[in-house]
Amino acid sequence: MYFGVDYYPEHWPKERWAIDARLMKETGINVVRLAEFAWAKMEPQLGDYHFEWLDEAIEILGKEGIKVVLGTPTPTPPIWIIEQNPEILPVNLDGTRLGFGGRHHCCQSNETYRNHIRRFVREMAGHYSNNPHVIGWQTDNEFGNSHQRLCACSSCRASFHKWLESKYKTIDELNKAWGTVFWSQTYSRFDQIPAPLPTPNSHNPSLLLDWKRFCSDLIVDFQKLQVDILREVCPNHFITHNFMGLFDKTDYFNLAKDLDFISHDQYPMHFRPERDPLSPPQNLAMALDLMRGMKQKAFWIMEQQAGHSGWELVSPAPRPGQLRLWTYQSVSHGADTVVYFRWRTCLFGTEEYWHGILPHSGIPGRRYAEIKKTIQELTPVMKECKGMLPGAGAAILFSYDQEWALQIQPHHPQLNYIKHLQGYYKALFDAHIPVDIISDKEDFSRYKLLVAPLQFLMTPELSTKFKDYVSRGGHLVLTMRTAVKNWNNTVIPEELPGDLSELLGIGIHDYDCLREIEQSVKWMPGDAAITSESANKWCDIITLDGAKALAVYEKDYYSGTPAITCNSYKNGLAYYVGTEPGTSIMEKFMHEAVKTAGLSPVMRTPKGVEATIRQDRDTAFIFILNHNAYAVSFEIPKEWQAVTGKEFPKDGFVSLPPFETAVFKSGRNL
Ligand code: GAL
Ligand code: ZN
Repeated sequence: MYFGVDYYPEHWPKERWAIDARLMKETGINVVRLAEFAWAKMEPQLGDYHFEWLDEAIEILGKEGIKVVLGTPTPTPPIWIIEQNPEILPVNLDGTRLGFGGRHHCCQSNETYRNHIRRFVREMAGHYSNNPHVIGWQTDNEFGNSHQRLCACSSCRASFHKWLESKYKTIDELNKAWGTVFWSQTYSRFDQIPAPLPTPNSHNPSLLLDWKRFCSDLIVDFQKLQVDILREVCPNHFITHNFMGLFDKTDYFNLAKDLDFISHDQYPMHFRPERDPLSPPQNLAMALDLMRGMKQKAFWIMEQQAGHSGWELVSPAPRPGQLRLWTYQSVSHGADTVVYFRWRTCLFGTEEYWHGILPHSGIPGRRYAEIKKTIQELTPVMKECKGMLPGAGAAILFSYDQEWALQIQPHHPQLNYIKHLQGYYKALFDAHIPVDIISDKEDFSRYKLLVAPLQFLMTPELSTKFKDYVSRGGHLVLTMRTAVKNWNNTVIPEELPGDLSELLGIGIHDYDCLREIEQSVKWMPGDAAITSESANKWCDIITLDGAKALAVYEKDYYSGTPAITCNSYKNGLAYYVGTEPGTSIMEKFMHEAVKTAGLSPVMRTPKGVEATIRQDRDTAFIFILNHNAYAVSFEIPKEWQAVTGKEFPKDGFVSLPPFETAVFKSGRNL
């Protein structure tokens, strides 16, 4: 499978299905995802199963050689389920119960709802287990989306109590771990513990972190319920789920474990007023790299943007070339299959303005032509680079526990875990250094450079893992707010950076939170062009104990003290960054770290031109993507052969028009 669409036959008259299937085939589409919201049509009343319409649609698609991934329709329990058991509706953290009408109007711990799922998923799976056109399943749809405030109903609260009991065993252990002696919050039984509903002020931070972990585990468990049934009834089908990149409600590393591979939904263009209409290319790339990091393997895009996005408001039109460019970007970061959302723009419902490949009229137009061209030129490339990864020498550590703990206590109103990581990612992206994004459970030794920002929570095991990594020659970047708290989210009493001080060769005896305070950093290492730039949000005030300073603060009572340090430790190097440095210092620092670690770029390109790579032992595919709305021209290595975009290279130079792409092939590159 290389290309597909999300298709909703239930939205269109039957007479249209064959036309759609033929048009799909003409573009080169060979897979569709169906039915993830179609519960009411498959079971209009309890036990009254109607799969005949779906069978017919699958048959028509199958005749054109199109395979099917079925979604379990569990994000949309029909009204008759809710009518019988209104307690299935989820409760917000302010205590109000949400109503029927959108989707994900369901509590994931509710046993009555789970029983409906057990029954329905078994029935549906049984019906399709031997259908020759069905190849796999998507569980639910974008877990955690639509109901981002999670559920605080009595069933979830009872599940939270069980979860806590299995974690802490005794209530005394929990009281100790959370520090409930503070403000008389000591509990004598697990069932006294509240869900974090509003209080006169704020909740215990350890309770809040465990609540986030519980909600994440609940989603993993909710998925497992379906996965177990699907594995039993359809042993020959794969199981996947559509993730949402940098989304924060579930520990995706855990959610991924039960799946054969993960899928991701990639939407570069937004319609909501609180977001920029277009995500910058490096943020899109980072989401894709994180998705690849879930299993350290190639993945699917289950929803790739196919037109303007929109609900009540509408995004700009993707410019000619952009849909193609974004597809290339997904493939270049490790997508082996790209499924577009959606085939045709719907005539009703919340997503009337979420534009598909076809417009409302169903008449193929600009987007159809562009996607057809994309599929036809990229399919042969994808056949060859299937399964290949970038072979990155650098990694960034990503942790949901760290993200959640810093959401609870960001210190500075603008400190944001994802944005902070994006700063490091951007420096590597701009330098064209391929990056893996990995969990702290992963083997670090494969990487020459490991960037581990904001390791706020620390365990003795993790700190030992960092020390071992550097001892064996690794280059490690740690940053501000590291080793501040233990995994229960209470403060570690040792002076910062705790037992990492020998590794880092520094002590931190004081710090400053930059609330309405300006600070700047100056880059030191001896070069004439001294760069000075803002330090943001936080400053650790560092004393050297073996390390050397790479940058110093310039103002206030700690002017002249180190802001960024580097320490030789056994066979490796350990850097520490005591602040969130502005862009040019970040660039200088990462340039230094990359060079010292012996990493080389895929190639050097002009600003806004991405260069990524997928390779195995002998062959590399290099993807050059011009994200700019203007043309660029640059030199490429002589030995690279153009695979797509053959018209652009001339005399060793490539001139790429706006949003153009080109793929080259060479021997292993890095
Ligand atoms: C995704 C979702 C799809 C559709 C799309 C457009 O988040 O999975 O079902 O809603 O966005 O809004
Ligand atoms: Zn609930």
